[in-house]
Amino acid sequence: MQKVDAVVLGAGAAGMMCALEAGRRGRRVVLLDHAERAGKKILISGGGRCNFTNVNCRAESFLSENPHFAKSALARFTPADIIALVEKHGIRFHEKTLGQLFCDRSAMDVVAMLERECAEAGVKLMVGVRVEKVVRDGSFRVETTAGVFHAEAVVVATGGLSIPKMGATGFGYDVARQFGLRVVECRPALVPLVFDAKDCGRWCDLSGVSAEVVATAGRKRLSVSFREKMLVTHRGLSGPAVLQASSYWRAGESVTMDLAPGVEAFAPLIKKNARRDAKAAVEALRAVLPQRVAERWVALYPPKDWTNASLAAMERELHAWTVTPAGTEGYAKAEVTAGGVDTAELDARTMESSKVPGLYFIGEVVDVTGWLGGYNFQWAWASGASAGRAV
Ligand code: FDA
Repeated sequence: MQKVDAVVLGAGAAGMMCALEAGRRGRRVVLLDHAERAGKKILISGGGRCNFTNVNCRAESFLSENPHFAKSALARFTPADIIALVEKHGIRFHEKTLGQLFCDRSAMDVVAMLERECAEAGVKLMVGVRVEKVVRDGSFRVETTAGVFHAEAVVVATGGLSIPKMGATGFGYDVARQFGLRVVECRPALVPLVFDAKDCGRWCDLSGVSAEVVATAGRKRLSVSFREKMLVTHRGLSGPAVLQASSYWRAGESVTMDLAPGVEAFAPLIKKNARRDAKAAVEALRAVLPQRVAERWVALYPPKDWTNASLAAMERELHAWTVTPAGTEGYAKAEVTAGGVDTAELDARTMESSKVPGLYFIGEVVDVTGWLGGYNFQWAWASGASAGRAV
């Protein structure tokens, strides 16, 4: 049995940030993970280059039952703070697009940075240790495969359900429920969408083609649009625009795609003496869509006739392609889990449970989900730092 000030469960982005902040304050911290090494999700993130933050980070880029909850933590640990840490370690990075910062070399640099900071702060990092039970007996008793730890504070940083084959578990949600905290229903987010059989028959043979679109999803009042690439897959749709929209999509709802944002694609056919036939329509569409998509579109949605009215209807259709997905690719392919520990149960400044003093939840296990593009790591750093300064 070991007695420490804080036990942090999960050595991912949030857990490591929390542990190093607490360690720097002189707290005795144990950081536990059942994986064979720390930061496994960081290693595979951003295609191996870790999109570690987004310089445009703001609370509007996060989904939560309480859209204001994330503001406090995000204001106390900003993109400038993680950039300063990355620079302190001599890690070179670049902005790719839309404010997304990636390592020049490898995500490994970010994990090494966090491990070094933890070591310098005196954090005891233990990997290959599964946390089995958290019990409250005055203070907390954390039962693990490496023995029992006693602490005044327990920080749950066990992440979400996405990519179970990498060690994701629902342990954090179980701990929340065990202590009487509400968990907002979880669902896969930032996830490819799957066509129904009819749409799959129409489009899936074009797997691999992509186009810039505006994808819109969500219930009317909360609908959100993203102008980015859409990719046809062998089962449905993916690409950044669709992944973003998927976080707002619910079963049974549709997603609308503007396939020619800001362009009147069929304008050339309206001109005086212009040719008006399927070949001319495909040619016009090729200005905005790949050849194969253009051909398929005209074959699937030919105009009733070639009058101006029919061409206008064809144009409208192109800007509002409505797909009702059969589902998503699920947690196996989801980048994150939406939903999680209800923010109404947590203090926005410290991430401590209001019902159970000493119990903290940070990172993806909380009902705060960022857009694609470095927002989820920024939430992990910010919520981790908030708890690390409080435990
Ligand atoms: P995280 O999942 O990182 O860590 C939780 C830890 O808890 C894990 O190490 C796990 O092993 C451990 N654990 C779970 N149960 C346990 C138990 N019972 N006992 C002990 N340990 C336990 N985001 C972003 O901003 N930029 C990006 O580039 C990417 N890229 C990306 C790619 C891919 C493929 C995925 C799947 C996800 C991303 N993300 C991302 C999302 C990002 O990785 C994610 O939001 C953060 O890693 C969440 O950090 P946490 O620390 O909360 O959980």
